[in-house]
Amino acid sequence: MASFVIAVDGPAASGKGTIATRLGRELGLPVLDTGLLYRAVGVLTAQAGGNPDDEAAAGATATRLTADLLADPALRTRTAGELASRVAVHRKVRERLLGFQRTFAAQPGGAVLDGRDIGTVICPDAPAKLYVTATPEIRAERRWKQLEGQGEAVAYADVLADIRRRDARDGARDAAPMVAAPDATLLDTTEMTIEQAADAARRIVEAARARWERSH
Ligand code: C5P
Repeated sequence: MASFVIAVDGPAASGKGTIATRLGRELGLPVLDTGLLYRAVGVLTAQAGGNPDDEAAAGATATRLTADLLADPALRTRTAGELASRVAVHRKVRERLLGFQRTFAAQPGGAVLDGRDIGTVICPDAPAKLYVTATPEIRAERRWKQLEGQGEAVAYADVLADIRRRDARDGARDAAPMVAAPDATLLDTTEMTIEQAADAARRIVEAARARWERSH
């Protein structure tokens, strides 16, 4: 039986990570935050003295990446997010991370993956696809609170500038740009609490699952 894959894409701090985690918990499915892969490639490249804008250097790091490196709290920082977005433009990096993501998605029973290109490139046949958005201002507010909670003091205006810069880079790159798959359901969480967003996501996925079960 094909596995029930849930693709949750969208820009930074849209709520997609929390939504993916809750869906995984409720449905008993493993969850992969694919942003961590790019964050790890960015951080490890920089740590090794390489230039994240250099495709060969970042590509070599991507080849060496292993799952045990993804638990490092250093990957959750603001700097790691920026490094991730810089290495994510490289085709070599994206190609080398493809197999890991597809293998994760192919687990028996299914999986939840959140990222930017899950519904378009990694799992274009996923039976459930969500594209989660919110205004840049609201996303910056959420990210700012999250960073403060992690003890990373930063001005709101700087977080908003980061978000806008990342949106622009992720959306404009040639390799797997951030874009909603044509068959994804859009979920704008601007006016929603995380509870409301998670409920809305669950309803979208339940409808997709019912359709998928009828056809399998
Ligand atoms: O989701 P997160 O903020 O952790 O992602 C960090 C960066 O990694 C994004 O800004 C994007 O450039 C890149 N990314 C990507 N494709 C994914 C997940 C993340 O290009 N599937």
